[in-house]
Order: sequence, then structure tokens, then C-alpha cells
Amino acid sequence: MIMWKKEYSIGIDSIDAQHQQLVNIINELKDGIDNKKENEVLKETLPKLVEYSKIHFHDEEKQMEMAGYTDIHLHKAQHKILINQIIQVLEQLKSGKTNVSISLFDFLKNWLLKHVLDHDKEFGYFVNEKR
Ligand SMILES: [Fe+2]
Repeated sequence: MIMWKKEYSIGIDSIDAQHQQLVNIINELKDGIDNKKENEVLKETLPKLVEYSKIHFHDEEKQMEMAGYTDIHLHKAQHKILINQIIQVLEQLKSGKTNVSISLFDFLKNWLLKHVLDHDKEFGYFVNEKR
């Protein structure tokens, strides 16, 4: 399971809350993997993660626009890559090229946290320095 840590916070409450929700969905997916509910992971949890990620990235980009964030274009490009990655993973699983396994959880954990720590935090610093 991913345990939420203070260091994951980027200092913007609304975005932190959405990141925690993404962590919750990834943890739900881990629970499904542990309990051998592959079908549920594939048909419900992973599509839910894709949908919520789209909503979250969109909200985050809106906040970046409003804040006049200088690196918004780079950040948007990162979001595109991230969405494409999980859609691709979902397609591979659906087609049976890969199976639902613990490596899926490891991948998603890294997928989210690396972006939060490397990229979203930069936006947090930008906003909080301007305040
Ligand atoms: Fe982001």
C-alpha cells in the first residue's frame, strides 16, 4: 500500500486532496491484486484511475493557467505522456499481452509519485512563492 507522506504534499490543498484520491484508487487496485480480483481491477479500478487522472490533470492545468505558471506547456506534455502510459497499460492488459500482477501496482505507484515529486512540487513552490 502507498502510505501518504507529508513530503508528497505540494502545498496546494485542492491538488493534495486529488493526489490523495489517486493514491486511494491505486491502493484499491493493490487490494484487488492481493485478493485475486483481476477482473474487477481490469474492468473497474483501472478504468476509474484513468478517468480520475484525466479529471485531475485537467483541474491542475486550469490552476496553472490561472496562476500564470511559466512551465505549463512542459507540464501539460508530461500529463499527456502519463495518460498515454496508463491507457496503453490498460489496453495491453485487456488484450491479454500482460497480466494483472503486483508489477502493475509498482508501476502505478512510481507513475504517480515520481510525477508529484518531480513536477507537481515545482508548481507548488511557484504558487507558494508568489503568495
Ligand atoms: Fe501534474
